[in-house]
Amino acid sequence: MQMTIRKATAADAAALADLRLGVLTEEGDRYGPDRDVFVEFFSTWISDHQLTHLPFLAEVDGNAVGMAWLMVADRVPDASQRYRGCGDVQTVYVVPDLRDHGIGAALIEAVLVEASGRQLEHVTVHANDRALPFYQRAGFQHDPCWLRWAPVTAIA
Ligand SMILES: CC(C)(COP(=O)(O)OP(=O)(O)OC[C@H]1O[C@@H](n2cnc3c(N)ncnc32)[C@H](O)[C@@H]1OP(=O)(O)O)[C@@H](O)C(=O)NCCC(=O)NCCS
Repeated sequence: MQMTIRKATAADAAALADLRLGVLTEEGDRYGPDRDVFVEFFSTWISDHQLTHLPFLAEVDGNAVGMAWLMVADRVPDASQRYRGCGDVQTVYVVPDLRDHGIGAALIEAVLVEASGRQLEHVTVHANDRALPFYQRAGFQHDPCWLRWAPVTAIA
């Protein structure tokens, strides 16, 4: 099994869209539009967000089998530090048949190398219970200073 991890671009939109549809299918979401419509939309979205949402693609024997995204954002500058950035890991996914072979770990490693290169102050991730050890092995830790707000959903 020959695995490679690389940065993806809008030219990889079809592969990224198929992986995204894999996530949605697994989560039980129904994704209204057909694949071609979604690929077209996703291709434009990736181009429009290329400065803020950096996709990484895992390939095995030339086939796209996983992805991870690093969202980067600017923080308000200091007087002495004009550039301050932070990141958020999003949409980490490996096709079910190839899980538990270290592909996800390799994707996260590539994301964190990019984050280090950009000197991001921190990188966050929203993990589900099953994936907690996966992120902790990569160096993520719980931080009691972080709070999350979400709108109160109306009770029907
Ligand atoms: C999370 C995920 C990307 C890991 O990819 P992978 O190639 O299997 O990763 P690795 O082989 O490097 O590591 C395996 C670890 O992934 C985690 N994992 C395995 N199956 C998982 C699943 N179905 N969902 C979430 N995490 C899973 C476990 O922590 C596992 O290690 P452990 O069994 O020792 O606890 C992959 O399981 C996946 O795509 N899951 C579904 C989507 C998801 O949950 N994404 C994370 C959102 S927070």
